[in-house]
Amino acid sequence: MATEGSIEFRRFRPLRSSEATRQQNAETRLLGTEFVYPMFVINGKNRRDAVPSMPGIYRMSVDEAMREAEKAISVGIDRFLFFGIPDEKDDVGKRAWSPDEAVQRSVAELGTRFPDAQSITDVCMCEYTSHGHCGQLTGRIVDNDATLSLLAKTALSHAEAGADVVAPSAMMDGQVAAIRAALDDAGHSGVNILGYSAKYASAFYGPFRDAAGSTPSFGDRRSYQMAPSQRGEAMEEIEADVREGADYIMVKPALSYLDVIASARAKFPANQLYAYNVSGEYSMIHAAAANGWINLKDAALELLLSIKRAGAQKIITYFAIDAARWIKEKA
Ligand code: PBG
Repeated sequence: MATEGSIEFRRFRPLRSSEATRQQNAETRLLGTEFVYPMFVINGKNRRDAVPSMPGIYRMSVDEAMREAEKAISVGIDRFLFFGIPDEKDDVGKRAWSPDEAVQRSVAELGTRFPDAQSITDVCMCEYTSHGHCGQLTGRIVDNDATLSLLAKTALSHAEAGADVVAPSAMMDGQVAAIRAALDDAGHSGVNILGYSAKYASAFYGPFRDAAGSTPSFGDRRSYQMAPSQRGEAMEEIEADVREGADYIMVKPALSYLDVIASARAKFPANQLYAYNVSGEYSMIHAAAANGWINLKDAALELLLSIKRAGAQKIITYFAIDAARWIKEKA
């Protein structure tokens, strides 16, 4: 304690006096190995189409995606989350479980070329349905129970292609249970499930829907994704996923939900907690930086750090490659 007149005060500044001191006293540190890199994969060859609303992000054919994976692996990233965009969409999303779609081929190819890398697949119908909703429709309602078997079939096709982890994101009740049962029945008990347990109906998915062509053709997703007002309900959603057999859990989006991340970490210490730094969170940083309003690297690293500090153990982020490089430069 120091004193100034009769007032005692504590000196905090000595621990901030140099970069080395600051580094040494860091309570939280970002690690490139904790990032998961999402990739949008398409059919064809040598294709790398820019996603206009997401600078630096592409829809890639499988060969290009493997080049991108190699780049990511060279900076220490070893987990990939695959989203597939089919050439043809229909009312139930049949291409989702086709063994020759881009996700299934990416998973197989990654396993052959980079056996130490982990493949995670997004299991949802919205990229494959003509109406853009996350499941099968009965009238204008997304039919929960009819969708479960479609999600289970899709997850199974990913497991058959060699996926390490399947990640259901449709927000259908019972989806983890349905997928766990289908995997176990087919002899894939070793395939893990990452539940998109607390997934909110968020305005921050806009650029992703642009990338995936998955904007709902009518209505919105509020009858199945969670309302932003809910924290208690998020804990119950997570608990349900864990009971149904989810190995890992997720809060999505990340930045507007740091309190939910912190609660989830405290309440479910035995399940690795993922947070999804979603497309809108990525694009708004890029947009502000492009205008010269903020520094891209500093802003991105600060946001990623906040997600980890809140309690996330893995961060799914489009910044993965850049951030891993920036962290390396700093070290
Ligand atoms: C599929 C899905 C979405 C995202 C991940 N999985 C879109 C949605 O629910 O509309 C969003 C990811 C992002 O914004 O980066 N259901």
